[in-house]
Amino acid sequence: MTSSATRHFFVTTALPYANGPFHIGHIMEYIQADIWVRFQRMVGNKVHFVCADDAHGAPIMLKAEAEGVTPEALVAGIAADRGKYLEGFQISFDYWHSTHSPENAELSTAIYRELKAAGLIYVKPVEQFYDPVKQMFLADRYIKGECPNCHSKDQYGDACEVCSSVYAPTDLIDPYSTLSGAVPVRKTSDHYFFKLSDPRCVEFLNGWLNAPGRLQPAVANKAREWLTTQGDQALSDWDISRDAPYFGIPIPDAPGKYFYVWLDAPIGYLASLKKYFDSGKARENGEPRTFDQFLSAPEVEQIHFIGKDIIYFHTLFWPAMLKFASRKVPDHVYVHGFITVSGAKMSKSRGTGISPLRYLEIGMNSEWLRYYLAAKLNANVEDIDFNPDDFMARVNSDLIGKYVNIASRAAGFITKRFEGKLLPVDGTRSVATAKWNELALQRETQIREYYEERELGKAVREIMELADAMNAAIDREKPWELAKDPAQATRLHEVCSDCIHAFRQLTLYLAPILPRTAERAAVLLGLEMPLRWSQLRDGGAGTIKPYEHLLQRVDPKQLEALFDFGVPKDKTEATASATAAPTGKSPEAGLAEIAIEDFAKIDLRVAKILQAEAVEGADKLLKLTLDIGDAQRTVFAGIRSAYTPEQLAGRLTVVLANLKPRKMRFGLSEGMVLAAGPGGKEIFLLSPDSGATAGMKVK
Ligand code: 2FM
Ligand code: ZN
Repeated sequence: MTSSATRHFFVTTALPYANGPFHIGHIMEYIQADIWVRFQRMVGNKVHFVCADDAHGAPIMLKAEAEGVTPEALVAGIAADRGKYLEGFQISFDYWHSTHSPENAELSTAIYRELKAAGLIYVKPVEQFYDPVKQMFLADRYIKGECPNCHSKDQYGDACEVCSSVYAPTDLIDPYSTLSGAVPVRKTSDHYFFKLSDPRCVEFLNGWLNAPGRLQPAVANKAREWLTTQGDQALSDWDISRDAPYFGIPIPDAPGKYFYVWLDAPIGYLASLKKYFDSGKARENGEPRTFDQFLSAPEVEQIHFIGKDIIYFHTLFWPAMLKFASRKVPDHVYVHGFITVSGAKMSKSRGTGISPLRYLEIGMNSEWLRYYLAAKLNANVEDIDFNPDDFMARVNSDLIGKYVNIASRAAGFITKRFEGKLLPVDGTRSVATAKWNELALQRETQIREYYEERELGKAVREIMELADAMNAAIDREKPWELAKDPAQATRLHEVCSDCIHAFRQLTLYLAPILPRTAERAAVLLGLEMPLRWSQLRDGGAGTIKPYEHLLQRVDPKQLEALFDFGVPKDKTEATASATAAPTGKSPEAGLAEIAIEDFAKIDLRVAKILQAEAVEGADKLLKLTLDIGDAQRTVFAGIRSAYTPEQLAGRLTVVLANLKPRKMRFGLSEGMVLAAGPGGKEIFLLSPDSGATAGMKVK
């Protein structure tokens, strides 16, 4: 393929589980992929960019049960919320679908049948723990017991958190089901396996993952290691079935068996693409082919952006499944690291991290985050850190101080003194700004390569160096002084024209990262939309519109608001609020250690919400009537922004039962229900696993 030929891409990001809102890690991945996709579109390549909710699996089934809704209703509720994040952060997906869809059922079934026909599926009995009360097989995370090594109690079924030993759930002493508390029994059932260890799979994967440039070196090494290890850790076949009850896609001709969620999840990439094609949207985007034609076209490049925790699935199972179902295999799997916040790993349960929704709701500009992440991202599998002070310094200094500044220093003069008219670019003029365009075009290939290689930080550095060079030239010319001397009018016109031209070029270079600012700048500059990379070379004279402010600086108060999620504005309501999220920038940092005796003073109990009702005159509060075992209690909880009374009646939660009662305007509040989350729509009431009953002590 020559470099000028149009490339055709099918690009995805990992499908998020449909059991909660997006966290900052999802948004980072989408921003990384979106910048790359926008760059490809700008250089003239065709991209179809899709994602979907990963809707199946036991956790979603159990969560729905705990909330008293169907899994379908649970995932539909989550799906309804996706748009505001995606629009808010300007993620240009062409389609968002769900793995719980007819397209996914059809494709998963077809792929399974093809794998079976290829002789790569077999059935084998597997003995597993079974919960006789819940009547279901238990995944390791639903079994606890005493560690066989150090004898610590309440350890999970796969590894001990105290002594770190790894074992099988059947090795636990006195195991119990975390779902019902029952003693699990061993039970055998037939499971379906995908024969990954088949020599055909191994041979194919060897070739696939060793293809030059296919995977990042660290990722290829990891995959190679998995593929070639012998002995205990050798590549094993993949258990692709789960027994009912399960929320998933039924396996054909296997009553009571469902595909394991990880089988149908990546097929969801194809299902989303299919729906996008079948609904006519791909055609609207200029794609003449059908779904089947597109995916069988050899020139189409299939690319998955994923996080480092799911490499195994994407570099072994997924390509092998596709290959032996006679389908296009991925051309690249691009892996990124995690995002930490001020050096700390995100923990949803401890309330750390950044809420993307809160970021948007308090009016922070999505392009600040897009820029900041771009400046930090590279093509390696490295974690990146969000540091609030660094964020503010970086955005304010680069975007406002360097980039926007170039336009704001010159546009007023062009409008007021020269009727908005620009002089053409001319490198032979004697002003210090004249040679800049040549420099900017010399860097074009390099910047383009950096975008292509996902070296976004390096691209940003190149672009900011160009901005620095222009600002230095402006400082030498001092247009604000030239403007005072009528004899210097031509020089002023030349310098300011160069500035606006530089701003134009920088806008084009930054457009994949700052799509909205680029669009607004395009109006000012009279640039034709959609922006194209080739416009870098067709600029020159022209007329600009009067300058309007393009980007605000980050205000430290906004950053405080972003992290200060524990202090509700209305203190009265806060006292009875359910939001148990800790206060302050670093929730862990401010709290002193406590002894177990301190914890023992807290009467935490499982409570059943008998009744929930809105409180007139308090738009944040719900009045809850709770059964706490030996009594009924009334609690006013500040959770109305996230729950309707109908969603709550009948469900279980956790209450702090010995909190001093508090007299409120609306009545006496006799306790506090516990919840996590930053507030607003993101309040998550705690629920015990099923089996718990009202009044049980939480300890
Ligand atoms: O790890 C996860 O969040 C999974 N839901 C990712 C699935 S990616 C793909 F295979 F669908
Ligand atoms: Zn142990």
